[in-house]
Amino acid sequence: MSCIIVYVSKHKGNTKKVALAMAQEINCEAKSVEEVSVEELEKYDLLGIGSGIYAFGMDRELKKLLKKIKNPNGKKVFVFSTSADLNGAKYHKGMKKFLQKRGFSFVGEFNCPGAYTGWFFGKKSLNLDRPNESDLKSAKDFAKSIVEKVF
Ligand SMILES: Cc1cc2nc3c(=O)[nH]c(=O)nc-3n(C[C@H](O)[C@H](O)[C@H](O)COP(=O)(O)O)c2cc1C
Repeated sequence: MSCIIVYVSKHKGNTKKVALAMAQEINCEAKSVEEVSVEELEKYDLLGIGSGIYAFGMDRELKKLLKKIKNPNGKKVFVFSTSADLNGAKYHKGMKKFLQKRGFSFVGEFNCPGAYTGWFFGKKSLNLDRPNESDLKSAKDFAKSIVEKVF
């Protein structure tokens, strides 16, 4: 069985760090959403889909890409994100619903805090040192557990 990780990381590269840590752990490729084609995705049994949380949800480009997969046929997908919110997994809800509706098989999710600077939360900056080594270790452990579970 084969796996690829696809990510969007447009604020500070936080999610890219998590994506690369996971990819290293489970020995697969990690590509940004612009770098990957739907034909390529169709070849894999397991997809890892990740992004920063932007305005209460995952990046729209991920759904756009996944929509192009005509026959998901139970293709396995895990979801991950980084967020200003310390408990950001709640923002996966829309993506999980979408995956279920399209016929993908959702196999797990991971979230950790990510650095944020701006005024969205009424504060100038949050989580400046995240993801840290411990977050990346948790991301690796998560990815490993998924692979052990599904393969
Ligand atoms: C435009 C924008 C909107 C955001 N909206 C949210 C949000 O709704 N909830 C949240 O927890 N974090 C939010 N964040 C913070 C990001 O999710 C966080 O900084 C994340 O780690 C960014 O990941 P990236 O560096 O991979 O893009 C937002 C950040 C930006 C730039």
